[in-house]
Amino acid sequence: MDSNIESLTNLFEKYTADSVFKDRVTLTPEYVPDEMPGREDEQNRMVEALSILLDPFRPVAVNIAIIGPAGVGKTTLAKRITKDLHSYAQTMNINLDTHYVNCHSFRTKTSILRRLVTDGFSNIQGRGFSDEEMMEMLAKKLMRENKRIVLTIDEAGMLKGEDILGLIHMNELFPPGEGRFSTIIITRRQQWSLMLNTHLSGRVQDQINMPRYTREQLKTILEYRARLGFFAGVLNDEVLEMIIDIAATTGNARHGIEIMLRCGMIANAKKSSVITPEFVRAAKNEVYPELRPDVFNDLKINELLVALAIATILSKGGGAVHTTINEAYQVYKMYCETYNVKGQSKATFRIYLDNLTQLGIVVSQVKPMPDGSRGRRSIITLHDIPAIIVKERVEEAIKRKLKERMN
Ligand SMILES: Nc1ncnc2c1ncn2[C@@H]1O[C@H](COP(=O)(O)OP(=O)(O)OP(=O)(O)O)[C@@H](O)[C@H]1O
Ligand SMILES: [Mg+2]
Repeated sequence: MDSNIESLTNLFEKYTADSVFKDRVTLTPEYVPDEMPGREDEQNRMVEALSILLDPFRPVAVNIAIIGPAGVGKTTLAKRITKDLHSYAQTMNINLDTHYVNCHSFRTKTSILRRLVTDGFSNIQGRGFSDEEMMEMLAKKLMRENKRIVLTIDEAGMLKGEDILGLIHMNELFPPGEGRFSTIIITRRQQWSLMLNTHLSGRVQDQINMPRYTREQLKTILEYRARLGFFAGVLNDEVLEMIIDIAATTGNARHGIEIMLRCGMIANAKKSSVITPEFVRAAKNEVYPELRPDVFNDLKINELLVALAIATILSKGGGAVHTTINEAYQVYKMYCETYNVKGQSKATFRIYLDNLTQLGIVVSQVKPMPDGSRGRRSIITLHDIPAIIVKERVEEAIKRKLKERMN
């Protein structure tokens, strides 16, 4: 064997041998666990609502919504159930496809339709067709192949209610009483209330509310995830209780799982075979439960630069409490020059800002003028995440994005 490869193999072997992780992947955000303790009721309700799709004689469509705060298993439950639904349909000889889109990446009805068209027709890109044309193509294909589709629309708050309604309207292209296009709409609660201003609510047959987890439920969940991820003896009961206590303050399972993952990484870095309370304390300060860890990767370069501008202003010196649109816009333009990205107009800048607000990264509020004079002004601040952390993560994401562009 080449000596280079040999030493690398040794290194990997050594690393794997020394690791506290039995299966590290099971603690990463993408992993979908086989079991979801504490979500039995919600699971049953979803299965019940979706079972109508398994009528072998008549294709019918349903729309269901899953609503709840961060980290309560909305995405995971939808992914698990659609996977099972797909396999079960196969055993019944029902032609049913499941698709998943996250609206952080797919932000318009058009981009979702393009994805469906690209997935469904191997030689068509979807570009150059209107939404109506794409819907017709899809509908024809579904009829020709006697197929049904279930589309999971995650983080649907990024879309307008009318856009989702527009997708659902595809069912009008089928004969009366028939439906082939079903949706599972996932949002956090505040965004759902905004979307309900449309006629969407009338089209949603079942709304499943997923509350925060109780401490008891988190205990079961985190014990289960620790068993999957770590070797026995790495995380003792007392230390695990500390993590459960922290996660119980938010009722967010991701909070606890991310802390466990980081603790394991710290243990490996320090060459410790156990996780100590000190590791938990350190990990706790690096984990922000409201923030999906990959949220920055889905942002466009200009949005990243806007976030960077705001985080820079707010982390300067002792850290400013808030900033204004004018100030943030100036710093944004400066960063555009630094990174050689074409700067956008102030109106477009405001759109980026709105997107960041919707994602829960920044907060923009309209306040009275500080000097008591007439009029109001918009102020911008960051959500619960320290500005310096946002700055670090955004800078990493920018670097990644620019590198991708060069390749
Ligand atoms: N009941 C459960 N059992 C085991 N693991 C769970 C359970 N609920 C959630 N998790 C895990 O917690 C993490 C967060 O879950 P998920 O991503 O589904 O939350 P979410 O409600 O979609 O949050 P967000 O609104 O931030 O997208 C994932 O790693 C998931 O595997
Ligand atoms: Mg989710």
